[in-house]
Amino acid sequence: MYLKNIKLTNFRNYNKLTVSFNKGINIIYGENAQGKTNLLESIYVLGITKSHRNINEISLINQNSNYFFIKGKLKKDKFYTDLEVYADDVKKILKKDSDVIKKVSDYISSMNIIIFTPDDLDIIKSSPQIRRKFLDTEISQLYSDYYIVNNDYKKLLKMRNDYFKKIIKGKKLDKVYLDTLTSILIDKSIIIYKMRKKFIDKINLYCNKIYKDIMKLAGFRIVYRCSCDIDLNSTNLKEKIFKKYQDKYDIDLRLAATSIGPHKDDFEFYLDDLNIKLYGSQGQQRVAVLTLKLSEIEIFRNYKHNTPILLLDDIFSEIDNEKKNNLIKYIKKDIQTIITTTDLNNIDDKTLESSKIFKIHNGKITREVIK
Ligand SMILES: Nc1ncnc2c1ncn2[C@@H]1O[C@H](COP(=O)(O)OP(=O)(O)OP(=O)(O)O)[C@@H](O)[C@H]1O
Ligand SMILES: [Mg+2]
Repeated sequence: MYLKNIKLTNFRNYNKLTVSFNKGINIIYGENAQGKTNLLESIYVLGITKSHRNINEISLINQNSNYFFIKGKLKKDKFYTDLEVYADDVKKILKKDSDVIKKVSDYISSMNIIIFTPDDLDIIKSSPQIRRKFLDTEISQLYSDYYIVNNDYKKLLKMRNDYFKKIIKGKKLDKVYLDTLTSILIDKSIIIYKMRKKFIDKINLYCNKIYKDIMKLAGFRIVYRCSCDIDLNSTNLKEKIFKKYQDKYDIDLRLAATSIGPHKDDFEFYLDDLNIKLYGSQGQQRVAVLTLKLSEIEIFRNYKHNTPILLLDDIFSEIDNEKKNNLIKYIKKDIQTIITTTDLNNIDDKTLESSKIFKIHNGKITREVIK
């Protein structure tokens, strides 16, 4: 799939902008603070409905306005789809081919996006919460059912924790109610665990080769740390998990929290037996996250029979020239890629020749080159 064009109104530092993209590689270059990341962000918002940055959504609206509007034309196989996202400070409206789409889950699988930004180092370095957010966004793009079950899970989890709060405040404990709530919560948990495991298993089919192609080091893998700590294929899985929850009832009640569940899951990056978070260099960590994302392309290709749109924001920092070239070789396939850079010298002449190049200055495209 690829994005043919995008129109922005009052998005970040853009008042009005129309860009037509190339099917292959597109390069957006310009000095700092001109709007390169904002343009990638707008593409991400068009596909995923929210920003890839951890921000208050209000900041997406141009400071001189009170709404933003993004419209894009997507081509998938032989078909075109028009997507629209409108937002102001009270509402967000999603449209697909002019029809209003009420459920985010019905919208987000239309346009698949993989983004890589310098902040993604957080996927390795930061807290498990960031890694879970990554899993949730990515698996939701692959399977819209995941988005639904994960939302249900979050609601049930809140209900359970709120119930504990009421007990602490003096409400009488209804054991049957708590067991029922816990049972439904576990049903959802098992679906989430299994889908997360399946996703990471698939990543592991591809990531070792990709990491080796770029870094010339073998033994790369990702390990899912499922918080339930039970083999997901074991018999009586639900009963076993239920027993764990029962063992924790007292603690959970005291803390008004749920101590096990998908909201405690994590995953780790390894090079042989070396945990990359603890022992990897900055470059190794950066390439590890990039590898994770490039592996996803293969998943989309093989399981959705489509290629996602790849957004690469300033990826060349902290990667030496040799690895940069290995990387460019890797992405130069049948996939639409939109790259930002402050310096065209970062990109080899051959790639430049086959790319569509945009110069961005102060929220405007000042030059558009097709070589
Ligand atoms: N809501 C907004 N309204 C107006 N301007 C905004 C808004 N949000 C961000 N900006 C401005 O957009 C400008 C460009 O930001 P952006 O992150 O896209 O820069 P960039 O070209 O990626 O720069 P760098 O090379 O430093 O990453 C910044 O000057 C920022 O102040
Ligand atoms: Mg930027």
